[in-house]
Amino acid sequence: MKGFMDSTLVIGSQFGDEGKGKLVDCLAEKSDCVVRFQGGNNAGHTVVVDGKEFKLHLLPSGTIRKKRSLIGTGVSLDPRVLKQEIDSLKEKKIEVNLGIDPRCQIIMPWHNVIDIGKEEALKEKNIGTTRRGVGPCYADRASRIGIRFDDLVDEKRLSEKINFNYSYYKNVCEKVLGKEFDFTEEEVFQQYSALGKEFKKHLTDVSIEVNDFLVKGKKVLFEGAQGTMLDNDFGTYPFVTSSHPISGAATIGIGLSPQKLKRIIAVVKAYTTRVGSGPFPTELNETEADFLRNAGNEFGTTTGRARRVGWLDLPMLRMANRLNGFTELAITKLDVLSGIKKLLIAESYSIEGKKILEFPYANHLIEKAKPNYIEFKGFVLEEKDRKELREEGYSVLDPKAKKYLGFIEKQLKVPIKTISFGPDRIDTLTKGKSVC
Ligand code: IMP
Ligand code: MG
Repeated sequence: MKGFMDSTLVIGSQFGDEGKGKLVDCLAEKSDCVVRFQGGNNAGHTVVVDGKEFKLHLLPSGTIRKKRSLIGTGVSLDPRVLKQEIDSLKEKKIEVNLGIDPRCQIIMPWHNVIDIGKEEALKEKNIGTTRRGVGPCYADRASRIGIRFDDLVDEKRLSEKINFNYSYYKNVCEKVLGKEFDFTEEEVFQQYSALGKEFKKHLTDVSIEVNDFLVKGKKVLFEGAQGTMLDNDFGTYPFVTSSHPISGAATIGIGLSPQKLKRIIAVVKAYTTRVGSGPFPTELNETEADFLRNAGNEFGTTTGRARRVGWLDLPMLRMANRLNGFTELAITKLDVLSGIKKLLIAESYSIEGKKILEFPYANHLIEKAKPNYIEFKGFVLEEKDRKELREEGYSVLDPKAKKYLGFIEKQLKVPIKTISFGPDRIDTLTKGKSVC
């Protein structure tokens, strides 16, 4: 059955913002279909095509390449944001070819109120969520009171569901969180039923469609959002997102057998960043962080927040590899390290004098972890070097950069196949099997 599993999965190996959007865009060109399977518009994927920047939060990045783009059941879907994104692409003369699974959970206006109200109630212990209502929407799925895309497109079902949820959450928000609704039930119904009517044409059973694509030997690309360290179970709980940004989630977020996952690409930023609260063992202090943050333009795509920055962390990546089963690595933003005299990689941690190779399971242990660093000589990757790299490829990469990358590869025992050294698609090197 040649071609039966021509599937590629792109996964964030750190705290999100590793540069998945750019890689997905490169891979999308050669794919027949691009699928999102978890998260919602808390994600922010920046793609630069011919110097033009596209920022997507909800739509699969493949839409920019005009590919069949699917949103699987594992996604929390905000139809208000979907409309904005589709309309803004239309202005750029891009028509989406979109399919949405009827089982997708819908983000309602009260989910935003709860997201904000709960963060405020947590005070200094807040998670630093994107406030997009994604977590409260998933919570409703587990509570079995969620509104699905299938309800959104049917006025009667929508009205019944809104009726229960509106009064239930009005009570919760006013009495528990001290938050008033600034929308009436009728307004929510009018807005959402109009969106349902508009998007009905996109309804498709994504599980069936993706399986059909694969059976026919077509190339399917699965686009992960966020990163492994934000996994709801395995990340730095409670400072995590509300979905599972790991490879296994593609199976339940689409409706697909694990046997159909073939290539699993880890997107690894050449250093580490994090937005929001939570432990970060290799984090740099404020003065040291400034250089990397500015060089790497490390400000959130979704919320504009300054990202926290730190050195590359191997215990973190070892765990990511264990959870995801990476078949190859794509290293991104290598150019950002250019000009730093001394580079560090945390090879392991010490916790109470004991050497630890694997990322600990709980924050109280992570807080005690002291990184054991390996030092590397810095390299320079200026515009002239990048030009040479574009023309000549990997062989002309500075040997000091090769040493830095070789260490990562050896430690994780996973080959690096892609190196990104700038925001544009042309700033991408392939080693071994070409991806872009
Ligand atoms: P939520 O996903 O909005 O609930 O936010 C929970 C945590 O995940 C916060 O620390 C966010 O900053 C973080 N987060 C959510 N989505 C992303 C992303 O796409 N990139 C990086 N961090 C994210
Ligand atoms: Mg992002």
